[in-house]
Amino acid sequence: MDRLDKLLASTGRWSRREAKQLIKEGRVLVDGRLAGRGEEKADPASAAILVDGVPLALRRHTYVMLHKPAGVLSATEDPRQRTVLDLLPPELRRGLFPVGRLDKDTEGLLLLTDDGDLAHRLLSPKNHVDKVYHARLDRPLGPADQAAFAQGITLADGLRCMPADLELIGDGTEVLVTLHEGKFHQIKRMAASRGAAVCWLKRLSMGPLQLDPALEKGEYRLLTHKEVAKIGGKL
Ligand code: URA
Repeated sequence: MDRLDKLLASTGRWSRREAKQLIKEGRVLVDGRLAGRGEEKADPASAAILVDGVPLALRRHTYVMLHKPAGVLSATEDPRQRTVLDLLPPELRRGLFPVGRLDKDTEGLLLLTDDGDLAHRLLSPKNHVDKVYHARLDRPLGPADQAAFAQGITLADGLRCMPADLELIGDGTEVLVTLHEGKFHQIKRMAASRGAAVCWLKRLSMGPLQLDPALEKGEYRLLTHKEVAKIGGKL
């Protein structure tokens, strides 16, 4: 059983305050009975909830696309530092966690969900989900670096990376890198193995999911039904 205002807010359509207001205005029916208070409990699995006469589609899972800004941690909580969850309204946060991590200073696409199975599938190295990053470097990379990336870079500690695609933009101080795996600080360490330092890094896509260009840094939105279907999620 969950609080009715929480259930309404979990759809992402209303804030908790707006949900309480809807209930107060007598616009919410639960199992044919007018709901009186937000604290009222309902069973999300079985209750028939109508808002303005329209059945409420309760989500099984929540999928949020965040344009992560630099300066926040890809974590659910931290005693001192701001996390990506702090960028979401409280009614949306419940049970969400980031699918994989971006470094604190990395920007771009971050998916947050409460769907553990999907997160596992997207992160499992055997599924080879492509991730595309845009990087700015302190020195240009060139064709020899492209060949090394295509071969599979060996990092300073001897760890071998899978072959990756390196696309040069302009003079090669900007690059697009496509990874099929996700090792700790991977882009920075791959660039370092070629003598270049990453000055700025942004993730553009993860599998079929692309960062929505309409999202400013720090902004988020729910995934569309189409996007959820593309990544194999369950609404
Ligand atoms: N590679 C990095 O070095 N950092 C990230 O945040 C992601 C990929």
